[in-house]
Amino acid sequence: MRQMRLLTACLAGTAAMLAATVSFAQEIRDANLTPYAVKDYAIEKSLTGKPGDPAKGRQIATTSGQGNCVICHKMPIPEVAFRIGNVGPDLTEVGGRLTAAEIRMRIVNPKLLNEETIMPAYYRVTGLNRVDKKAQGKPMLSAEQVEDLVAYLSTLK
Ligand code: HEC
Repeated sequence: MRQMRLLTACLAGTAAMLAATVSFAQEIRDANLTPYAVKDYAIEKSLTGKPGDPAKGRQIATTSGQGNCVICHKMPIPEVAFRIGNVGPDLTEVGGRLTAAEIRMRIVNPKLLNEETIMPAYYRVTGLNRVDKKAQGKPMLSAEQVEDLVAYLSTLK
């Protein structure tokens, strides 16, 4: 019984330590990409140091070979209504639900939140299973394109 209590105390201690660790910003450096800090499942700073362009972000969200987010997410883009998928959550009001910093992390690397997710990490080069040699060493989207998407998604309220 005493051992049991000791074990419980140890586990509680470890949990507290882990909670303390995640509240620090974790700096992520990935090959030649702009380094960024993740804290509370969010990336506070713009990857380019500037705000993105929402009109460009809207375009990227529907363009195959770029974001092509609409194949999995409902978004208010009537021109592509016929090819909108619903594999992921509806993003129609995502700007009201998540901060720009939270949206940024989910585009950069949603695996930080859910290792099993089928959503691609758009700003990552290591740890990807790439068939196409030409695509190796390059992220799916540039830092500017990520910021354009963050700006666009933030307008969806
Ligand atoms: C292959 C399907 C797929 C594609 C393509 C995709 N996503 Fe996702 N996305 C998901 C899934 C599934 C989730 C749910 C999170 C999870 O799996 O853990 C998600 C979650 C999200 C979330 C969090 C939403 C919330 O309410 O918590 C955001 C924001 C997001 N995606 C943005 C994007 C953007 C922007 C693009 C395009 C650059 C994109 N996604 C492309 C499948 C996809």
